[in-house]
Amino acid sequence: MILPSPLSMFDVSGKSALVIGATGSFGSAAASALAQMGCYLTIADMNSEKLEALAVELRGGGAKVKIVAEIANSEAAAQKIIDGVVSAHGALDMMFVATGLNDVGYIEDQPYEKWRAVMTANLDGYWLACQAAGRQFAKQPGDRGRGKVVVVSSTRGRHGLPTGYTGYCASKAGLDGMVRALACEWGGKGININAIGPTVFRSPLSEWMFSEENPGKATREAMLERVPVGRLSDTNDLIGGLIYLLSPASDYVTGHTLYIDGGYTAE
Ligand SMILES: NC(=O)c1ccc[n+]([C@@H]2O[C@H](COP(=O)([O-])OP(=O)(O)OC[C@H]3O[C@@H](n4cnc5c(N)ncnc54)[C@H](O)[C@@H]3O)[C@@H](O)[C@H]2O)c1
Repeated sequence: MILPSPLSMFDVSGKSALVIGATGSFGSAAASALAQMGCYLTIADMNSEKLEALAVELRGGGAKVKIVAEIANSEAAAQKIIDGVVSAHGALDMMFVATGLNDVGYIEDQPYEKWRAVMTANLDGYWLACQAAGRQFAKQPGDRGRGKVVVVSSTRGRHGLPTGYTGYCASKAGLDGMVRALACEWGGKGININAIGPTVFRSPLSEWMFSEENPGKATREAMLERVPVGRLSDTNDLIGGLIYLLSPASDYVTGHTLYIDGGYTAE
């Protein structure tokens, strides 16, 4: 038996890749990495100004980039994003969803609407994106190869700290469940779905934890004590796992949450 070259197993060049939440910290790092790997890109986000700026940057490096400015929380918006991919690049090969919202607060004080907003962003939006992508994959010819989906969960899907994270923790645990369920639904259809579960990396969502004031400072220090490698992460730590999960190297991996967390979940 001839083994494929190990490097070719990570080759995603020429693939049509969609990044939703593309102007965020993880999303923009992913878009840049996929552009450098030779993908045809579609970048979607609700922040149209940042999308334009990102597209200019990526096109400057030679990438083919389509923009779709949408709040990805409805069936119509999810469909518009997929339509944008297909109109620009003819098909969808891989989707990476990196949207997210947190609203920190103790349950006794938190208005129900804030819980709902977190659920809408972190669960409904992901489910809708997967529904629209699944419908598109089903229309594509089998010789297009396997469809790949990667979503962003969190170590918070498994752990209850820091306090004040009821909505966020529940939404990420729900997302892990959705990934496992979709892996079962999609396994026979040639579609893989996996999650990446980071611990803290610096972004607008986590900025409060990088403060020198409390509660940010105390939370960060307590968190660091629980990370065996002794530091919080940055988006560079996440890209290798993302490329693995989007590439043929992971064809036999589905329904998995890959923790890229410096060992946080090992404890
Ligand atoms: N930052 C961390 O420490 C951390 C840790 C673990 C997991 N995560 C997860 O990583 C993912 C990315 O987070 P980040 O830190 O890069 O956040 P970020 O705030 O930098 O990026 C989120 C992006 O998603 C966009 N967005 C949000 N809701 C949207 C919607 N409904 N439709 C379209 N665009 C939308 C925002 O405009 C933003 O560009 C999130 O799912 C987050 O929960 C983050």
